[in-house]
Amino acid sequence: MSDNNYSPIQVELEKDKRYAWCTCSHSANQPFCDGAHRAHNKPPSLGFSVTEDKSAFLCTCKKTSNPPYCDGSHKN
Ligand code: FES
Repeated sequence: MSDNNYSPIQVELEKDKRYAWCTCSHSANQPFCDGAHRAHNKPPSLGFSVTEDKSAFLCTCKKTSNPPYCDGSHKN
């Protein structure tokens, strides 16, 4: 599989907004949950928010040890 499939996605996050990061890989709206985990009987998304507006790279390979943020694990 090419590295591109697991590259992080850069998103603009808004202060205090609630986000749901997909943990199961099945969402068609990566890196966010679209509810697809239910059909695949997988654990739910990880909810998170940020304390200030910021740009971030969110993990799509789901191997990060710092979810929802990319920690470079997709390159391993
Ligand atoms: S679709 Fe993956 S966690 Fe919801």
